[in-house]
Amino acid sequence: MENNFLSLIKTCRSVRAYKPQPVPSEALDAVLEAGTYAPTGGGRQSPTIIAITDPKYRQEIARLNAEVMGNNTDPYYGAPVVILVLADGSANTFVEDGSCVLENMMLAAHALGLGTVWVHREREIFDSESGKALLREWKLPETLRGVGAIALGYPAKEAGQPAARKQNYIVRI
Ligand SMILES: Cc1cc2nc3c(=O)[nH]c(=O)nc-3n(C[C@H](O)[C@H](O)[C@H](O)COP(=O)(O)O)c2cc1C
Repeated sequence: MENNFLSLIKTCRSVRAYKPQPVPSEALDAVLEAGTYAPTGGGRQSPTIIAITDPKYRQEIARLNAEVMGNNTDPYYGAPVVILVLADGSANTFVEDGSCVLENMMLAAHALGLGTVWVHREREIFDSESGKALLREWKLPETLRGVGAIALGYPAKEAGQPAARKQNYIVRI
């Protein structure tokens, strides 16, 4: 079946090279708002979305993420915006809630001609003392746990083709 939204899903690929140009605020707002409309367990809206454009914190979060990997690369591939998704660790669906938020934002960004990639290791960052210090600085509760992040910006090159879907991905009973 052909449909614009279905084709959007199929063409949404991870972007690992970004132009330095900033994301217009209306587009960023639209992406963030799309995240807030994700489903959440029990309708608890456990996630908190943190959009980082301030170069000081953009650099700090990259440093902390790279530290978890044990290197000094930029894990967000030079993207001008990093969007962190954390969630209330006391909600038993915090990982699933945050994951739905991340996916909504990735699809919304793609619909607006922006690129994203999910970047991992936010759990380690915000379970650490350095991450908790950032939460205090941002006046956010230390009970927030990291779920993931997306790098956001204009793609610097064409997205490749998706990998072939594995055999037996879908089972019909
Ligand atoms: C939970 C999760 C963690 C991921 N972590 C990273 C990451 O840290 N860095 C990265 O470049 N891509 C990361 N990715 C993106 C995957 O590598 C990517 O989706 C996969 O290779 C398929 O490529 P495609 O999105 O272009 O189809 C992650 C994806 C998910 C769902």
